[in-house]
Amino acid sequence: MDIKEKISIEEYSGKLYKMRVFEPNDNNEAVLTHFIKNHLNGDAKFFKEDAIKATKKILEYKYPDKKITLQVAEQALQYGLFDKMEKVPFPSPDKPKFKFIDLFAGIGGFRIAMQNLGGQCIYTSEWDLEAQKTYKANYGEIPFGDITKEETKKYIPDNFDILCAGFPCQAFSIAGKRKGFEENRGVLFFDVAEIIRRKQPKAFFLENVKGLLNHDKGRTIEVILDVLRNDLGYFVPEPQIMNAKDFGVPQNRERIYIVGFHKDTKILDFEYPKPTSKKVQFFNVKEENVVPTKYYLSTQYVKTLIAHKERHASKGNGFGYEIIKDSEVANAIVVGGMGRERNLVIDNRITDFTPTTHIKGEVNRDGWRRMTPREWARLQGFPDNFIIPVSDASAYKQFGNSVAVPAIQETAKVIINKLKIK
Ligand SMILES: C[S@@+](CC[C@H](N)C(=O)[O-])C[C@H]1O[C@@H](n2cnc3c(N)ncnc32)[C@H](O)[C@@H]1O
Repeated sequence: MDIKEKISIEEYSGKLYKMRVFEPNDNNEAVLTHFIKNHLNGDAKFFKEDAIKATKKILEYKYPDKKITLQVAEQALQYGLFDKMEKVPFPSPDKPKFKFIDLFAGIGGFRIAMQNLGGQCIYTSEWDLEAQKTYKANYGEIPFGDITKEETKKYIPDNFDILCAGFPCQAFSIAGKRKGFEENRGVLFFDVAEIIRRKQPKAFFLENVKGLLNHDKGRTIEVILDVLRNDLGYFVPEPQIMNAKDFGVPQNRERIYIVGFHKDTKILDFEYPKPTSKKVQFFNVKEENVVPTKYYLSTQYVKTLIAHKERHASKGNGFGYEIIKDSEVANAIVVGGMGRERNLVIDNRITDFTPTTHIKGEVNRDGWRRMTPREWARLQGFPDNFIIPVSDASAYKQFGNSVAVPAIQETAKVIINKLKIK
């Protein structure tokens, strides 16, 4: 039987097949998109067998009366393959200089930085469905899901140069570490460590909140370094706190970076990049023509914010909001709660607008507004062609969770130079 039918990626991810053909937690979309994106390099082999099986399941569903062999499925997969190479804003470089994997990928802040330096991403994992949507729209792949699961880890290809991960910060004790990897299920750092142990990349680049340094009275970072240096044998220089505002974006965001080199690289020194001289202000990322009904605050809400802040200020703790002037840098963008209100902007052009009924009450006349998702993207150094396909609420969460691309890129540049990748 010859199947001259192109199966679109949408079909693999469509509700119909999700419900009728695949198991709820199947990695089919991830397998298929990774297979397609890697078809020109040797890494497609890691995904091929399962991509064929997924295609077979779809064909069996579509043609219940026909006998679908693996061969037929492979034929159909190949036939549709090149049609599925969708255009995305951030494709892999044509002639990659090195390979990396993107763990806890979020919306791919690491990925943009590494691709800019000539890297090809051959595997990615991120379990949040909304973040997966943004990831696919911009890079083409659907990330694999829960990295703690063996069925996710098993797809990680063998031969990559750099492992990137901005893993969430969690508590764990030295006692826990001593029990070994098996006993530490649920502590995400140990999943990262386990992947490093199995795959032995030339280098890794980890990112975390600054608080990791003092977390559990400094014990957490101590264990992390002990595992990386002594158990895994990597050269790991002292972790460094880097600030996004030192690398060309107007955001005061301090994060801890941890890099490491495999002993075979013989690299035994490393210097984090110095701040670039380029200084930027909020004005440089400010969006023009912001939709007033969406981002401007109502008069009543502004009153509430002011009252709240005054009440709390008398108790000595500032609370609620902060106005960022054009000439300033923004606070670190963070997820949830009042995070957005730490980054209000005054945009006086609002006086030209007539309040509409979309916003409860009257739009404030002082021009107080929230920053837009695009402004948050720019504060993290994401280029303007980065697609934001999700709701504002998800977008704020995703950019707030992400990394400052320029600071990551400058650091990665040093890693790549050290590895003599040209
Ligand atoms: C701090 S964010 C990293 C963001 C990323 N560096 C970026 O540039 O957007 C951590 C991410 O890890 C994801 N995550 C947490 N636990 C996970 C798990 N077990 N498997 C896969 N992803 C996970 C979260 O959904 C979150 O997006």
